[in-house]
Amino acid sequence: MGYLNSEEKKKVTTQRLREMKQRGEKISMLTSYDYTMAKIVDGAGIDIILVGDSASNVMAGNVTTLPITLDQMIYHAKSVVRGVNRALVVVDMPFGTYQISDTEAVANAIRIMKVSHADALKLEGGVEILPSVRRILDAGIPVMGHLGLTPQSINKFGTYAVRAKEEAEAEKLVADAHALEDAGCFSLVLEKIPAKLAERVAKEVSIPVIGIGAGGGVDGQVLVVADMLGMNTDFSPRFLRRYANLFEVITQAVGHYVEDVKSGDFPNEKEQY
Ligand code: KIV
Repeated sequence: MGYLNSEEKKKVTTQRLREMKQRGEKISMLTSYDYTMAKIVDGAGIDIILVGDSASNVMAGNVTTLPITLDQMIYHAKSVVRGVNRALVVVDMPFGTYQISDTEAVANAIRIMKVSHADALKLEGGVEILPSVRRILDAGIPVMGHLGLTPQSINKFGTYAVRAKEEAEAEKLVADAHALEDAGCFSLVLEKIPAKLAERVAKEVSIPVIGIGAGGGVDGQVLVVADMLGMNTDFSPRFLRRYANLFEVITQAVGHYVEDVKSGDFPNEKEQY
């Protein structure tokens, strides 16, 4: 974090994110699911850490985000919070914890906040989930919206293809963005939608809009940390830029270790008591 001045080193708040948008300063966001990664990501100067329900895929190997439970998300959130000093920590409410009723939603939201000590929550969906969003906001919990490709609805969509290419879906997305802003959400994630549409939303709403596969005309970007570090080889959407090839680095390091153990080279005399 050497390049951050003393003001920038202070804990990121929802208010500060809004000021960043007003100044035209882009917001950086990555996922993390555990203490060690969160500590590295926070120390490198990220603005927002998302404890994404993509933990279901990345950490547990599930095909979708649907199976992850509230308790599992709380476990990941607690681990991340322990590693973070500066970034705003946002936790995904998992599938099934906010759709049944607004009362259940606010109870689950309070539980995540109380036990994990995270800073905010993210919920997928538009006007359909507004009653839950409002109850959670009324409890004093900051909410980030998530529109476009919403992976918890994959069984309804049937595909991970780009969303809102047709006018009707695009207009609904714009209306949903305004409804979430009017309700009091502090920010929005837009996933895998046309860049022009995302730019329009970012211009029309006053809250920061963070994109993933939504082009450069928004207020910030988010990626799944394992994807941008190149820890897997089988996920290569157009929007993903890999900043490292950890798959290769780890494979080589582990292979080297196996060789050294088998040959008796490790441990040497200096590496023992
Ligand atoms: O769960 C997640 O990682 C997300 C991001 C893709 C925005 O919701």
